[in-house]
Amino acid sequence: MAAARCTFPLFLCVAVHAFMLCCSASSEADTLLSFKSSFEDPNHSLSTWSTSSSPSSSPAHYCNWTGVSCSADQPFHVTALNLQALNLSGEISASVCELRYLSYLNLADNLFNQPIPLELSQCTSLETLNLSNNLIWGTIPDQIAQFSALKVLDLSRNHIEGKIPESIGALRDLQVLNLGSNLLSGNVPPVLGNFTKLVVLDLSENAYLVSEILGDFGKLVRLEQLLLQRSGFYGGIPDSFTGLQSLAVLDLSQNNLTGGISQTVVASLKNLVSFDVSQNKLVGSFPDGICGAKGLIELSLHTNLLNGSVPESIHECSNLEKFQIQNNDFSGDFPSGLWSLPKIKVVRAENNRFSGDIPDSVSMATRLEQVQIDNNSFTGKIPQGLGLVKSLYRFSGSLNKFHGEIPPNFCDSPVMSILNLSHNALSGQIPELTKCRRLVSLALADNSLTGEIPSSLADLSVLTYLDLSANNLTGPIPQQFQNLKLALLNVSFNQLSGKVPYALISGLPASFLQGNHGLCGPGLSAPCLDDQPSHHKTRITALTYALISVAFGVGVLIVAAGFFVYHKSSKEKRQRGVWRSVFFYPLRVTEQDLIMGMDEKTAAGVGGAFGRVYVLSLPSGELIAVKKLVNFGIHSSKALKSEIKILAKTRHKSIAKILGFFHSDESIFVIYEFVPGGSLGDLLFRPDFQLQWSFRFRIAIGVAQGLAYLHKDYVPHLLHRNVKSSNILLDAESNPKLTDFALDRVVGEAAFQTTLISVTMHQNVATARKLLSKWTFTALGLCCWS
Ligand SMILES: *[C@@H]1O[C@H](CO)[C@@H](O)[C@H](O)[C@H]1NC(C)=O
Ligand SMILES: *[C@@H]1O[C@H](CO)[C@@H](O)[C@H](O)[C@H]1NC(C)=O
Ligand SMILES: *[C@@H]1O[C@H](CO)[C@@H](O)[C@H](O)[C@H]1NC(C)=O
Ligand SMILES: *[C@@H]1O[C@H](CO)[C@@H](O)[C@H](O)[C@H]1NC(C)=O
Ligand SMILES: *[C@@H]1O[C@H](CO)[C@@H](O)[C@H](O)[C@H]1NC(C)=O
Ligand SMILES: *[C@@H]1O[C@H](CO)[C@@H](O)[C@H](O)[C@H]1NC(C)=O
Ligand SMILES: *[C@@H]1O[C@H](CO)[C@@H](O)[C@H](O)[C@H]1NC(C)=O
Ligand SMILES: *[C@@H]1O[C@H](CO)[C@@H](O)[C@H](O)[C@H]1NC(C)=O
Ligand SMILES: *[C@@H]1O[C@H](CO)[C@@H](O)[C@H](O)[C@H]1NC(C)=O
Ligand SMILES: *[C@@H]1O[C@H](CO)[C@@H](O)[C@H](O)[C@H]1NC(C)=O
Ligand SMILES: *[C@@H]1O[C@H](CO)[C@@H](O)[C@H](O)[C@H]1NC(C)=O
Repeated sequence: MAAARCTFPLFLCVAVHAFMLCCSASSEADTLLSFKSSFEDPNHSLSTWSTSSSPSSSPAHYCNWTGVSCSADQPFHVTALNLQALNLSGEISASVCELRYLSYLNLADNLFNQPIPLELSQCTSLETLNLSNNLIWGTIPDQIAQFSALKVLDLSRNHIEGKIPESIGALRDLQVLNLGSNLLSGNVPPVLGNFTKLVVLDLSENAYLVSEILGDFGKLVRLEQLLLQRSGFYGGIPDSFTGLQSLAVLDLSQNNLTGGISQTVVASLKNLVSFDVSQNKLVGSFPDGICGAKGLIELSLHTNLLNGSVPESIHECSNLEKFQIQNNDFSGDFPSGLWSLPKIKVVRAENNRFSGDIPDSVSMATRLEQVQIDNNSFTGKIPQGLGLVKSLYRFSGSLNKFHGEIPPNFCDSPVMSILNLSHNALSGQIPELTKCRRLVSLALADNSLTGEIPSSLADLSVLTYLDLSANNLTGPIPQQFQNLKLALLNVSFNQLSGKVPYALISGLPASFLQGNHGLCGPGLSAPCLDDQPSHHKTRITALTYALISVAFGVGVLIVAAGFFVYHKSSKEKRQRGVWRSVFFYPLRVTEQDLIMGMDEKTAAGVGGAFGRVYVLSLPSGELIAVKKLVNFGIHSSKALKSEIKILAKTRHKSIAKILGFFHSDESIFVIYEFVPGGSLGDLLFRPDFQLQWSFRFRIAIGVAQGLAYLHKDYVPHLLHRNVKSSNILLDAESNPKLTDFALDRVVGEAAFQTTLISVTMHQNVATARKLLSKWTFTALGLCCWS
């Protein structure tokens, strides 16, 4: 077209055209380079921003630079810059406004440390400015009005303080305003009620924003998300909220709101998906009519002062997944229709005054995961239907008036982890629990249960908390309980009798056995009459002495051999120095056998950060994993032993056991139980990688429990310090087991640091793997740690 209208000879015309293209191009490139020159870019994230690196022959080559997007058709113009999360700092220069077509600028998640860059208001086409999660400080100045063309302004997660100025009212075209997680104070200016195009308004997490909720917010007819949680809002929820016809997400939680929840308001919010007013000081009754919003998924009213009953109409909320009304003063019969909602996952109503029972139709709630209704006045029996819900992992109904027998299927959900029916009026026997292999905690205290403690409980391998106290149980404590790794066993105040399993006594305060006059055993007030235990004990002691003498003998031989070898060849010394070993488990091999076995054939996979792992077979056929670490010699033999012993004493289903160790001046070999399923990392990097969510969930929970145990429960507290997918092993049933934990204690802090750093510096492949796996792990964690 241009050629046709051209009055010059054709070739000249083409040349002029090319020149114009080239020069507009080069000036946009120059603008970008000048914008970049005011940044500090420590990780060279913008290394592609360079004229030399691109073929200058292609026009608009800068459209390929990191984060740069251009218009789709010629002539190309820069329309968007997305420089999110690149560790950029320095100055945000107004030179960028020379890009006349720039409409989108995202500098979120960087390290810009400056006041709000008002100069950017010179960017005449700019519609979106995202500065979220930087170190922006200072107040919002009146000149914010200069940004009047903006549609999206995100200043969240910075350190912006002071009042929101009236002048912000000039930003009439705003569709998204996010000022969340700052240090704003004072009142919300009424002018915000004039932003009729607003779709998202986020003023959350500004603790000093002490204000009433504007009645004028009700005029924001297009508003879909109103997020005011965790600020200082007080007063009532305005009646004008009836006007919020488009509202889908309303979060007013953790403020100081008072007054009631108006039925009229709630009934007019037809598009609600999530309604959260929890942790305020709201009074009055349940918002009947909330189910007018057919799409409602989440309803949170918890921790307020609400009272009265919850109407049966709640069963009209057919999409409801989360129902949280705990810590209020609700009373009356609990609405039975709630129990059979097809999508319901979470029911929390603890600490109210509900009566009524759980109907057998609860079996229709096929996605139910969590029920907490403790401390109410529920009556009736625990229904059979509950055992048919295969997704249930927590049921706690303590401090109620449930009576009758516990149905035999009540722990049939394969994911059931926490059961608490303490302080009820349950009678009959404890059923055999065989299907809930994931049960971690079982509390049946203070009921009227009779009969014996089923020994099948001992087959629940992850059971760690068992409270059967204050019942009328008879018979012995099953000997098999010795196999469990119980953190708490409370069987006090029953009528149990017989010998207490030895392993239980040694680890338990006797108070957990008190009030059972028939129980006997060493350490208890009643020693057992048969003398078998002491006999047994002598045998054990004799055996121990024998073993020690043999071990000593072997040790002497080894030391002698060690010296011999040492003097013979300094090269051989590397492998056969003076070995010292401590096994916490009868391995029936010597460290020499193990060392002989460690070669290329038994090496498993590539070396991790700290050294290689070898998989060896014991004479018994059992497999063990031996990890070789460099001995930096920071510990004496004795100190090393006590450090590793600390690690070896950890006992948790999600922690790989340490069976022993041996060391020379050069190396430390830590012996772990062999976990057959490989690592989570291997699984993730398999080409056909696919994981079901239930599986991910289980791994995430297992890992979380393992870490919580190391970090919090175990004394002394251990920090894992090297969590990554290759250190999460999977056993035959794909349960996670953490390994490589707290190695800093073994090699010493300095060596630990250098090893981690040198790996990061030199093993690019391993680093990429590690980052990726960290990411995956975070993703796993995020979904499940709420
Ligand atoms: C990015 O730069 C920072 C500051 O120099 C540095 O601490 C960090 O290790 C770098 N990260 C990467 C991945 O290069
Ligand atoms: C961007 O890069 C691709 C391939 O590297 C190339 O084909 C394309 O022409 C480049 N675009 C521009 C505008 O330079
Ligand atoms: C930013 O720096 C952190 C550590 O300082 C580093 O982990 C991250 O990889 C860096 N990001 C980029 C894009 O280089
Ligand atoms: C701003 O950027 C952050 C990080 O990319 C993103 O999470 C957020 O949604 C963006 N804000 C808006 C309003 O799009
Ligand atoms: C809101 O807009 C109306 C009409 O434009 C104007 O009269 C009123 O003063 C504005 N309110 C505030 C608080 O600025
Ligand atoms: C609620 O108000 C009280 C006193 O008025 C104040 O101490 C408290 O910090 C406020 N809570 C919130 C979440 O703003
Ligand atoms: C709810 O609480 C108010 C006082 O806050 C009281 O007047 C009213 O009687 C209570 N209603 C019920 C049903 O308990
Ligand atoms: C039970 O709930 C009442 C309020 O209904 C509360 O005062 C009490 O502390 C709760 N008891 C327990 C043990 O949590
Ligand atoms: C079971 O419920 C009782 C009473 O609510 C509580 O004290 C106890 O801690 C709960 N046990 C477990 C393991 O959650
Ligand atoms: C246990 O049984 C005896 C008599 O059979 C009864 O008196 C007592 O109240 C019962 N204890 C409990 C806790 O149910
Ligand atoms: C064990 O049970 C008894 C009786 O229920 C109770 O008094 C005691 O506090 C419980 N101990 C622990 C640690 O739970």
